[in-house]
Amino acid sequence: FLHKLVLGIETSCDDTAAAVVDETGNVLGEAIHSQTEVHLKTGGIIPPVAQQLHRENIQRIVQEALSVSKVCPSELSAIATTIKPGLALSLGVGLSFSLQLVDQLKKPFIPIHHMEAHALTIRLTNNVEFPFLVLLISGGHCLLALVRGVSDFLLLGKSLDIAPGDMLDKVARRLFLIKHPECSTMSGGKAIEHLAKQGNKLHFEFKPPMQRAKNCDFSFTGLQHVIDKTITQKEKEEGIEKGQILSSAADIAAAVQHITACHIAKRTHRAILFCKQRDLLPQSNAVLVVSGGVASNLYIRKTLEIVTNATQCTLMCPPPRLCTDNGIMIAWNGIERLRAGLGILYNTEGIRYEPK
Ligand code: KG4
Ligand code: ZN
Repeated sequence: FLHKLVLGIETSCDDTAAAVVDETGNVLGEAIHSQTEVHLKTGGIIPPVAQQLHRENIQRIVQEALSVSKVCPSELSAIATTIKPGLALSLGVGLSFSLQLVDQLKKPFIPIHHMEAHALTIRLTNNVEFPFLVLLISGGHCLLALVRGVSDFLLLGKSLDIAPGDMLDKVARRLFLIKHPECSTMSGGKAIEHLAKQGNKLHFEFKPPMQRAKNCDFSFTGLQHVIDKTITQKEKEEGIEKGQILSSAADIAAAVQHITACHIAKRTHRAILFCKQRDLLPQSNAVLVVSGGVASNLYIRKTLEIVTNATQCTLMCPPPRLCTDNGIMIAWNGIERLRAGLGILYNTEGIRYEPK
């Protein structure tokens, strides 16, 4: 066969996803099953529920990705699967399914680190050379890393508590935006972005967290508590019952979005300066890749652009469908690892999966 072909399988959180990608980055087939609707009803992911849903869908999703691709399983070069980090029960479903398939098809297995896959996705769509900086911001992720090679990452900063998307989701729930006629079907972060357009960010003032911390870490829990208190106080002032939407909800959303953007931009600015001072990044035209669900927020992107413009960097984002969890990025990471001659297991005996 001319090209390397990798089947990628992803089950680290609440999406069951699979894809077949070739060596040049062509996506030959993909399939995804999202559990978001179920988890929205329970107000968060319940791991055994996620596990059950992965079990119910994985066979069909992998089959669908393969049949869309028209690739015969025997033509695959390898099977790549997320093994960490993520919810143990969810990861286990993808891993044990993959190991069965590996045994059946007698194919090499490529264990994939979920964060590395997110970070390398940009190289599937754009010609980005190492080293580059990556900012991953979603409901479950928050980190800044220098990507020096396919498997050479320097972690520069991470959230000490929750991720920004998690905070936005919590604030959106606290504001009862699910009852808002315009936002009822949106994720928390998207609802905040939508409402913020109708609000004035200057009507509320929140302080950016960790102003004095001389590192590139993040924190959102303290901010979330301050926002919570502000909402409680406003509810009293406006004399509304819990569960109703504040008349100042749009102003709060605008201020929350603003402070989230400021905090993320400030930590990213530090990371860029840190890398440049140590010649870890080129002085001009360094690339900052921003990915994850929160990266689709245009206000946050614009704020980050101010930072990249001021530091002679270029801001790049993978297309939205590749910013969130998917099988393509796992398959692509498999291709990258194959090409770099890295981490291929021909014998999977060592990684039998035992949930804790
Ligand atoms: O990457 P993703 O789909 O899933 C994981 O968290 O792994 O990200 C989802 C997160 C949610 O917290 C959601 O509220 C947030 O991304 N999000 C946004 C926007 N769209 C989704 N946050 C801010 N602005 C948006 N437009
Ligand atoms: Zn992810």
